[in-house]
Amino acid sequence: MGLTGKSILVTGGAGFIGAHLVDSLVAHGGHVTVLNNLSTGVRRNVNSQAVLRVGDVEDDRVVGKSREGVEIVFHLAADISRSSWIHLRLRRRHELRTQVCVPNRFADG
Ligand SMILES: NC(=O)c1ccc[n+]([C@@H]2O[C@H](COP(=O)([O-])OP(=O)(O)OC[C@H]3O[C@@H](n4cnc5c(N)ncnc54)[C@H](O)[C@@H]3O)[C@@H](O)[C@H]2O)c1
Repeated sequence: MGLTGKSILVTGGAGFIGAHLVDSLVAHGGHVTVLNNLSTGVRRNVNSQAVLRVGDVEDDRVVGKSREGVEIVFHLAADISRSSWIHLRLRRRHELRTQVCVPNRFADG
């Protein structure tokens, strides 16, 4: 799939995997917006050609604004310090979720 000129949203794009993904998407000509709450991610990780929007994926208003005009979404925002799901509501009936896999999730019952 050609990415040139595509409008792309990367949640968690200031994190470890997200930042590398953003670099690659930018290198392939994508117009990238990063949505990250900077809880662990850092601003300097974000490619200078990407737009950083500081906000939380659990905030519907922020997500709504961030996905305006977006054609592709990569959902990598996660709190990897705890076992949890972060839901990203894209449209009323479409939802993505990121499963955070850590060893102690199996001990949580
Ligand atoms: N790193 C690995 O080896 C690995 C392997 C397999 C799967 N994964 C999965 O890939 C995803 C990303 O992993 P990573 O290593 O890049 O983690 P990371 O902690 O480096 O990145 C996650 C980013 O999400 C941001 N974030 C957390 N909660 C947020 C929220 N509510 N709203 C907006 N941003 C939020 C954090 O600030 C952080 O920058 C996770 O789901 C992880 O479980 C990672």
